[in-house]
Amino acid sequence: MTDQASTPPSAAPRPLQIQPPTAASLARGADLLRSGALVAFPTETVYGLGADATSDQAVAAIFAAKGRPHFNPLIVHVPSLAEAQDFADFDARAVALAEQHWPGPLTLVLPRKAGAGLSLLVSAGLDTVAIRVPGHPVAQALLRAARCPVAAPSANRSGAVSPTTPLHVVESLGERVPLVLAGGRCPVGVESTVLDLSGDEPVLLRPGAVLREDMERLLGLPIATVGGDGSESPKKSPGQLLSHYAPAAGVRLNALDVAADEALLAFGPDQLIRGGVTRLNLSPTGDLNEAAANLFAFLRQLDKPAVRAIAVMPIPEAGLGTAINDRLRRAAAPR
Ligand code: TXA
Ligand code: MG
Repeated sequence: MTDQASTPPSAAPRPLQIQPPTAASLARGADLLRSGALVAFPTETVYGLGADATSDQAVAAIFAAKGRPHFNPLIVHVPSLAEAQDFADFDARAVALAEQHWPGPLTLVLPRKAGAGLSLLVSAGLDTVAIRVPGHPVAQALLRAARCPVAAPSANRSGAVSPTTPLHVVESLGERVPLVLAGGRCPVGVESTVLDLSGDEPVLLRPGAVLREDMERLLGLPIATVGGDGSESPKKSPGQLLSHYAPAAGVRLNALDVAADEALLAFGPDQLIRGGVTRLNLSPTGDLNEAAANLFAFLRQLDKPAVRAIAVMPIPEAGLGTAINDRLRRAAAPR
């Protein structure tokens, strides 16, 4: 990491609700969750805003804090595949993917198990549930201490860029979240891959760090895609509305130059592009994993009143580049 990703001014005191993950703060987080309150916590992808997934009132508090439309369902987080099987029906395909990729940045959409106790609000009326086992040690510790399934969308106001540091959470949600467990910067940086296995044909609802080609190889099956290319399917994946992840400034894709009132979000060698209000480079060496980890933090840093638009250099459609381009297309979509 170079100094371009510099931390916020150290003069500002750290907001009180941000706590390092000690035995005491994890126990408090678990207590808050069990009492129906919200707790933000790190995962390997982005920070989540957690609530007890069995409580209608707790899940409703997530929607209220985010200002999120109620038709957009939430991901349920559990510490292991064994617990996940209490809440959803896993077929052979789902077991194979879970054994390969959990804990990790993969969410599976599966038929809900009847009578398992999940709030109906979690699924927003669908007969499926999205479930994932995160690998981040703080997420694992919190889930094991809470002993309840935890519904958790990204810990930001609806439509805004997902948080990848504890401070991003507080900047977006303020007093709406009583505790933010701090776990540093999220190593992946873009939200989990969402794969719908509730029908005969597997459908990729959101690209992420678990790559489609790797899942196709494991399943021996092609995986269909929705969204990301403008082909919205709000019914299948209500969260995949085209305009999303939106900074206040405009976003211009595939930029090969930068205007005087634009900021440059560069990727790879950028010496030939001069000008602009300011610039950040997602990865000067062209490393897509580094670029994904920096993406949301850099969009926030460039989103300043003096910046009319963020001009983004082309990002290759390979590996995590697919997820980066998906999020950037949503950020650039008409509002
Ligand atoms: O990486 C992540 O997945 C993060 C961390 C916190 O785990 N969570 C996250 O949650 O990104 P959220 O709520 O921002 O995105 C969940 C996505 C949405 O696009 C939503 O529509 C979709 O998953 N989803 C949830 N339940 C679904 C269901 N039953 N059927 C189809 N799509 C579903
Ligand atoms: Mg989100």
